[in-house]
Amino acid sequence: MRPPLAELARPAKIEHEPPVSQDTIVEITGLCQRFGRRARTVTALAGVDLTVRRGEIFGLLGRNGAGKTTLVKALLGLLRPTSGTVRVFGRAPGAAEARTDIGYSPEEPGFPRYLYPRQVLELCGALSGMSGAALAAAVERQLTSSELQAVAGRQARQLSKGMAQRLSLAQAFLHEPQLLILDEPTADLDPIGRRQVRDLIVAARERGATVLLNSHLLSEVERMCDRVAIIHGGRVMREGAIDELLAGDRELEDVFIEVVEGAGGGTGYGPARGWASGLPPAPPTELPPAPPTEHPPWLAP
Ligand SMILES: Nc1ncnc2c1ncn2[C@@H]1O[C@H](COP(=O)(O)OP(=O)(O)OP(=O)(O)O)[C@@H](O)[C@H]1O
Ligand SMILES: [Mg+2]
Repeated sequence: MRPPLAELARPAKIEHEPPVSQDTIVEITGLCQRFGRRARTVTALAGVDLTVRRGEIFGLLGRNGAGKTTLVKALLGLLRPTSGTVRVFGRAPGAAEARTDIGYSPEEPGFPRYLYPRQVLELCGALSGMSGAALAAAVERQLTSSELQAVAGRQARQLSKGMAQRLSLAQAFLHEPQLLILDEPTADLDPIGRRQVRDLIVAARERGATVLLNSHLLSEVERMCDRVAIIHGGRVMREGAIDELLAGDRELEDVFIEVVEGAGGGTGYGPARGWASGLPPAPPTELPPAPPTEHPPWLAP
């Protein structure tokens, strides 16, 4: 028998599990994420274990395609893991309550194209549980601190790449969440914008927030992060406190290259060859001889 409609409309009961420890904000165990089927299967994450503690800025590093964005999406409940467990604040990802606790700035922000920045912030604030005077004040604060007042009269589709990134960050910080998940937050920003965002991230840590950051900008990571993990081929290859990784005056770039090359270079998938692997390119595949060409009469030599 089909359940009555009212039963279907009732939100699913959310199981609450206490955090492993009050200091553990993110707990990932054996996370595997595969896409596609059979011959087309892509293994983006192949058994990731990771813990992010309260009040730290945690940097997730890895080559293009290493699995950083996939991991972030699994944390937000945007992907269902193939296997393994993910807990954020001790809850399964995607729980409705978590929305008020998390601010997310995606790698590629996509706003409703015809909304103005103020409207985007009002919408995101409302989705995060804000309303009334508190929401209005927070929106004005973010418009000013992100320097978006100057483009307040332009729709989202008319913003430059860097302005769209500023808007994406403004909505992530809007409700002063406990956890900020920032996927390459400064990739499109000018040098002044980058410094502003660094200051914002550090200020968030000072008020007790936790930050998980994906970035290729190793100098920024060195300056800001307390701990980092380098993932390659869908696995965590090195994890530790930044001071420990850089002991002996090392640079993060050297540590990164050592880890990736130690794992065979390449992208972590398929043969370790290519323009960025440091290895010679694969020999060209021999093509079958072309069939004799019959010239049409008007092209005859
Ligand atoms: N929906 C999908 N379907 C198939 N493959 C996918 C999908 N999403 C991601 N992938 C693959 O998973 C792997 C990891 O991708 P991901 O976006 O997590 O990398 P990344 O570390 O964030 O890279 P980048 O630094 O370029 O942003 C890549 O090989 C990618 O092609
Ligand atoms: Mg990515």
